[in-house]
Amino acid sequence: MTQQLITNPGPPVATLRSLRSVALLVPDPKTSIDFYTESWGLSAVDHGEDVAWLRGTGEEHHILQIGRNEHNALGRIVFALGTRREVDDAARALEVLGVPIVHEPGPLDDAAGGYGVQFVDPEGRLVELSVERFAVAAKDANGRAAIPRKIAHVVLNTVDIDAACAFYTEVLGMRISDWSEHQMAFLRCNRDHHVIAFNQAPWTSVNHVAYEMPTVDHFMRGIGKLKQTGITPEWGPGRHGPGDNTFSYFTDPAGLVCEYTSEVAQIEEDSWLCRVWPRTPELSDQWGTAGPPTEKIRTHMAGVADPGHLARLSTTA
Ligand SMILES: [Fe+2]
Repeated sequence: MTQQLITNPGPPVATLRSLRSVALLVPDPKTSIDFYTESWGLSAVDHGEDVAWLRGTGEEHHILQIGRNEHNALGRIVFALGTRREVDDAARALEVLGVPIVHEPGPLDDAAGGYGVQFVDPEGRLVELSVERFAVAAKDANGRAAIPRKIAHVVLNTVDIDAACAFYTEVLGMRISDWSEHQMAFLRCNRDHHVIAFNQAPWTSVNHVAYEMPTVDHFMRGIGKLKQTGITPEWGPGRHGPGDNTFSYFTDPAGLVCEYTSEVAQIEEDSWLCRVWPRTPELSDQWGTAGPPTEKIRTHMAGVADPGHLARLSTTA
């Protein structure tokens, strides 16, 4: 698949507040839902046939939605905007740039409710900008339970990292916090060092989804809790260079990679300088505990080629 280059000479179409949630599509949703609720620490806020909405301890209605598809795929990534007006303005600006709108601004058909616009990025990913989701009460994020608070980031494999960065920075207004050579780019929309990262790859797919633990102690106890049930990290624990966050990578029953992380660097917007990190062991694995990623986890991170949202619509129509 090649990637269309969409640049934007004008201001970004919106100011993204945060990455709220990610939807993953898998052939056997029930087994994945069981894993994320019984082992990973999330809990279901709503579910239907072959679909569930799962929350962490934070205030987001859900952070992970799992649905069904013949092959593993990224279902959707959801960013928060501030107001309905911002959603409407973003939709108009996206249309002018030729970005395919899948859901015009309006009420969303989702367990979280809300008002939003959905569009397809240049590589076929479904992206939602939304406001006014249903409220849920935060759970005790700093209690002892090793439960993820929110989505920390999603890493996306891209066939053209420069075109991907052009769209997400020029059109969506994200900023590049750091590069890992010309292999990975880390993008932020708020103080978190990155909520999205792109990885140059042979095909478009989801690389992994990372879940934020409140502290490094929660992070370690989360790993320990999984270990007690026979689930061991396939890479980590360790601490990355770019972003300075801890990492421990696992593979879920569908073969998708999930990560516990904590302590991601917080960015001072006015003084931060983007760097290019050489991919050396001491910069990639600051603690020296993780070593290089295994062949197995690299294969899972590569995933299977995702033809994109519009291709899925045409095959199910
Ligand atoms: Fe990660």
